[in-house]
Amino acid sequence: MLPLLLALSQTLSQTLSLSQALSQALSLSLKLSLSHSNSLSLTQTLSLFSLSSPLHPFLKRHASMRCIAVLSALVAVSSAYLKQMDITDLSAYPSDSTILVTGAAGFIGYHLAASLRELNNVVVGIDSFNDYYDVTLKEARAHKLERLGVVMLNVDICDESMLKTLHARYKFDYIGHLAAQAGVRYSVNHPHQYVHSNVDCFVTMLELLRHTPEVPLVYASSSSVYGKGASIPFTEDECSDRPTNVYGATKRMNELLAHAYNHLYGVKATGLRFFTVFGPFGRPDMAPYIFTDRISRGLPIDVYHTANNEEMRRDFTHVDDIVDGFMRAMKHAAPYDVFNIGRGEPVSVPQFIEMVESALQKKADRHDMPAHDAELMVTFANTSHAMRKLGYAPRVATQDGVDNFVAWYDWYSKKLQTGAGFPGKDTYLPANKMPELLTSTPTEQ
Ligand SMILES: NC(=O)c1ccc[n+]([C@@H]2O[C@H](COP(=O)([O-])OP(=O)(O)OC[C@H]3O[C@@H](n4cnc5c(N)ncnc54)[C@H](O)[C@@H]3O)[C@@H](O)[C@H]2O)c1
Ligand SMILES: *[C@@H]1O[C@H](CO)[C@@H](O)[C@H](O)[C@H]1NC(C)=O
Repeated sequence: MLPLLLALSQTLSQTLSLSQALSQALSLSLKLSLSHSNSLSLTQTLSLFSLSSPLHPFLKRHASMRCIAVLSALVAVSSAYLKQMDITDLSAYPSDSTILVTGAAGFIGYHLAASLRELNNVVVGIDSFNDYYDVTLKEARAHKLERLGVVMLNVDICDESMLKTLHARYKFDYIGHLAAQAGVRYSVNHPHQYVHSNVDCFVTMLELLRHTPEVPLVYASSSSVYGKGASIPFTEDECSDRPTNVYGATKRMNELLAHAYNHLYGVKATGLRFFTVFGPFGRPDMAPYIFTDRISRGLPIDVYHTANNEEMRRDFTHVDDIVDGFMRAMKHAAPYDVFNIGRGEPVSVPQFIEMVESALQKKADRHDMPAHDAELMVTFANTSHAMRKLGYAPRVATQDGVDNFVAWYDWYSKKLQTGAGFPGKDTYLPANKMPELLTSTPTEQ
């Protein structure tokens, strides 16, 4: 949105052949209206540029009244538009910076990279495009990111020398680390994969920052770190040393390693404990996708419950809220901290299924199943810490999020049916994308 408005103000300045000073005033006014779009009413915004405004003498001296009218109208329209979009306080997000996003072809990484790019950042996205789930979806995300102007590279986070080369070349201001082996159930039979990507290669990321500790690292942790013994709702300082699965154990390990690197080298690291994230381009191995996919195709779904027949409850959180929390944590740049990023309003799985049914206008064929021991019965984020420190406040109501996801699912499945292919993952190999990267040697620091 911001780049768009600035481009608009540039075009306008050219068309009206405004002086440099005035066109600066124009872009300033646009930025002003952006940053105050939620605290100022439309009339207040308009009066900023009216006759009573301190800007007025300046405007009068330098341009015609017609220009002032155009300016005010533009500001008013953009402010109204932003209000409708419900964007607040853009200064809480990184902008005009250079940012590395790992796992950018993944679900959350894709949304984060896209939003950061919208805020006028240089964004480099890396991903190994592994086949944990359908690679086509990762290629679809990467393709969209490239079209938004994100530099997308097929790079493994375990490749230390490539990471060094990238860091030396781009001098990142922030790192958003989302590349990991995700999924609770899969970790039951593939423990090594988790320790490799989530622990070994997390150390690679930390080592990368050892010599530039001032660059804030924000990384994905998980609600799975709350195992046995944590009380509802989950609060950050609560017991997190009795995980019920290997995935949760590796995520807790991230937080411990981050602490050690902060203690030893001053690396600034913030861990975000995400709670059941869903939304467009969501993961095919997660319940929201599976329910939507199977119900719409008339296939039965498994609904898990406890041994004594209780319903499972999840703190489903829309990806837009997750990205908001993530970008706030980047800008906040705590020396060391851990935050819950969830909605703070758990919904039972059967209730969630009803929301999908309502969005699809179709009934589910439910099969009751006992839950696996690795699964928690309830997840529930206490978000006070993130609210207080980051100004985080989840906005997307669960049914709205479900409607939004189902609309995307509809679009995507049609896209697949018509065979509209996306550029393959090899397109993004550094050798194909930026051959000069391979010949330059990383500067030793
Ligand atoms: N989605 C959720 O509900 C949720 C909840 C809690 C935590 N998380 C965490 O958030 C992060 C992002 O999750 P997501 O849902 O987007 O998952 P995802 O699987 O869609 O994204 C992860 C991406 O990382 C990439 N990746 C894996 N190993 C890599 C490696 N060694 N090098 C480079 N890239 C690699 C994968 O190809 C994938 O595209 C993960 O760390 C995950 O554990 C997610
Ligand atoms: C939520 O967390 C805050 C600390 O961030 C704590 O003071 C408060 O008691 C917690 N609330 C509940 C209901 O656990």
